[in-house]
Amino acid sequence: MGKEISFGTGAKCKPEDIVHVWERVEVPLAERSYEILIGPGLLTELPDRLRELGVPKRLFIVTDTNVEDLIGYDLQAMLNDSGFHAHLLSFPAGEESKNMDTVVDLARRLVQLGADRRSMLLALGGGVSGDIGGFVASIFMRGISFIQIPTTLLAQVDSSVGGKTGVDLPEGKNLLGTFAQPVSVFADIGVLTSLPASELRNGIAEIVKYGMIRDSYLFDFIEKKWWDIINLEPETTSFIIRRSCEIKAEVVSKDEKEGGLRRILNFGHTIGHAVEAVSGYTIPHGEAVSIGMVAVSKISVSRGLLTPGQLSRLQGVLEQFKLPIEIPDGMEPDSIIRHMKRDKKVQDGKVHFVLPDGIGNTVIVNDVTQKELELVFG
Ligand SMILES: NC(=O)c1ccc[n+]([C@@H]2O[C@H](COP(=O)([O-])OP(=O)(O)OC[C@H]3O[C@@H](n4cnc5c(N)ncnc54)[C@H](O)[C@@H]3O)[C@@H](O)[C@H]2O)c1
Ligand SMILES: [Zn+2]
Repeated sequence: MGKEISFGTGAKCKPEDIVHVWERVEVPLAERSYEILIGPGLLTELPDRLRELGVPKRLFIVTDTNVEDLIGYDLQAMLNDSGFHAHLLSFPAGEESKNMDTVVDLARRLVQLGADRRSMLLALGGGVSGDIGGFVASIFMRGISFIQIPTTLLAQVDSSVGGKTGVDLPEGKNLLGTFAQPVSVFADIGVLTSLPASELRNGIAEIVKYGMIRDSYLFDFIEKKWWDIINLEPETTSFIIRRSCEIKAEVVSKDEKEGGLRRILNFGHTIGHAVEAVSGYTIPHGEAVSIGMVAVSKISVSRGLLTPGQLSRLQGVLEQFKLPIEIPDGMEPDSIIRHMKRDKKVQDGKVHFVLPDGIGNTVIVNDVTQKELELVFG
């Protein structure tokens, strides 16, 4: 047995775990189609993969300070040992960095390091690094190529797929941004072992969402394999990430700019975003979405779209992962409802809700009444 291949403390992977046969998801977007590769130990092959893609030798890795320590320095060293010339640019970890100051700072450092229009940017990290890295790449010198290397479960199943990039304003989240597709996405599940449980839960909530909106088989699978998922068993984890990416890729490729179908990805999010905001962002995204998914599913039950048994299954799965299914004590339903009506996705004063229609299907409605909302939080 050889020595452990490691990217800092983040990505330990024994050589026997590296299968070299990766899960692949094709994101079919006409001339900008690309591939998502998923698997344990994938990053050990990054230099070969980059050569296959014909990327330039000079690379600019954009990451946050946590991921820089966990993975960034080792990745940079591996790339440089393999004949690349990789620069590492980091910003302080956390959502607070997702703003224009960070974008300008990174862009200036890119110029100072000699980046040009043919340079390649690698966005390494969670959704914050992906959103910032992708945004910088999409506007730097009118746009340079980039690759996503997502390192949180949420980023691997959600933010690295679909091409939305952006940063926050003091007035709200993700208010400045672009649509920009990466050249490729490399999701190494080996790096997930260092994720705190709460970060893992953020990703799991999204995976449950994909099952509910599009794939009852995925939902059944999560229900049965919850223990393997918590323990990041490689085959199980690769499968749920692949299915999630396939579902998001399918939805996004049919509706790249959010006209219709893409709305189903907001299942649980209309209420979830309001819960997050009302809590002053102390409730993590996954927990808020979990509360939101259960709340709208209760509306489905009262409209006869979902059986009480199906609602119990959703609640049961979420509880296995220690995700909350009710709003926390002390949070006023009224403040959630008020906040929802101010959401940027509200059109003509009507709030759109994605209601489950059985497990694996949804309907989108805009006629949910105040009374129905009050009942689900009651
Ligand atoms: N573009 C999109 O379509 C899209 C979709 C969903 C969410 N998002 C955005 O994604 C962001 C949330 O993403 P996130 O939850 O990944 O947040 P994040 O990037 O802040 O990562 C969460 C924390 O985990 C750390 N981390 C990252 N990888 C790690 C690893 N392997 N081991 C240990 N720690 C690690 C990070 O440093 C950070 O502290 C939000 O800003 C949200 O708006 C974007
Ligand atoms: Zn989400």
